[in-house]
Amino acid sequence: MATKNQTLGEFIIENQQDFAYSSGELSRLINSIRLAAKVVNHEVNKAGLVDIIGAFGETNIQGEEQQKLDVYADKTFIRTLTNREIVCGIASEENDDFITIEGCNKDNKNKYVVLIDPLDGSSNIDVNVSVGTIFSIYRRVTPVGSPVTIEDFLQPGNKQVASGYIIYGTSTMLVYTTGNGVNGFTLNPALGSWYLSHPDMKIPETGNIYSINEGNYVHFPQGVKDYIKYCQEEKENRPYTSRYIGSMVSDIHRNMIKGGIYIYPKSSKSESGKLRLLYECNPMAFIVEQAGGKATDGYSRIMDLNPSELHQRVPFFCGSTTMVEKAEEFMAKYEE
Ligand code: AHG
Ligand code: MN
Ligand code: MN
Repeated sequence: MATKNQTLGEFIIENQQDFAYSSGELSRLINSIRLAAKVVNHEVNKAGLVDIIGAFGETNIQGEEQQKLDVYADKTFIRTLTNREIVCGIASEENDDFITIEGCNKDNKNKYVVLIDPLDGSSNIDVNVSVGTIFSIYRRVTPVGSPVTIEDFLQPGNKQVASGYIIYGTSTMLVYTTGNGVNGFTLNPALGSWYLSHPDMKIPETGNIYSINEGNYVHFPQGVKDYIKYCQEEKENRPYTSRYIGSMVSDIHRNMIKGGIYIYPKSSKSESGKLRLLYECNPMAFIVEQAGGKATDGYSRIMDLNPSELHQRVPFFCGSTTMVEKAEEFMAKYEE
């Protein structure tokens, strides 16, 4: 039973039996993530103080400019998970290919792979606005003891064993699920401990916030345009409020608490939208569904999509169930 103010360490020990394959390995993995998150948090918090903000001068596989903190967060999570030899493979937004962890197979038992967006919302780093980290954990499908293959990473979201996000906001929180509801822990920076501040999080069934980059309006599919107009109509409890931070983690975290919908649709500029299925949409979908919400691509459940590429993009409609279903109604009118 989750007790408010319990530390994350206590919570993990107490709930170990709920984990799908309870050997302690997943607990150790979550432990590593909470450690790496503290290190990244420290760096994020001093971003304005040291020469760490600004462009790193390289581009990642998506052709986007990497920020120094992107690289720092990527290295920190990979190093922490690698050093402890807990996982057998890691895929990250910042790396073209997945990483095989050699040492993890020596006692033939490690069975998890992690997919990660180490720094989400990186355009907000320079301007002191909340950013996040997103992670997704799967049990490998290839035999334990052999090197991981792409198959271990290209699994549908419904096979996730755990997922979560860290939000580096006005306070830093780690929110995760292992398929038994969602719990949120707030970091006490003075002590370096995470405390259960948001036990058994539930997203409101409906809300009045819509989050979408309306700057792309003219490029949106007609169903999305119609839904935006619906949100803006003077009827019932509308118009809704528009909030768009540009860090999906922050936008979805707010909607988890207040109720709302986050949409990153496809557009005439990009056929599959922008967000990545494996390390952005699936983990957030798992969290939101576990909190009672819904996540689709406008038509189908995100977590049932079969991925074909590591860095695959997908349109994303995620949040309060009633709002996502209403958006889907508009999409269905123009189904191709
Ligand atoms: P990342 O920083 O990991 O590349 O992800 C940014 C994502 C998401 O967090 C955010 O909501 C969206 O991209 C913003 O994109 P636009 O600027 O196109 O709205
Ligand atoms: Mn991202
Ligand atoms: Mn990122």
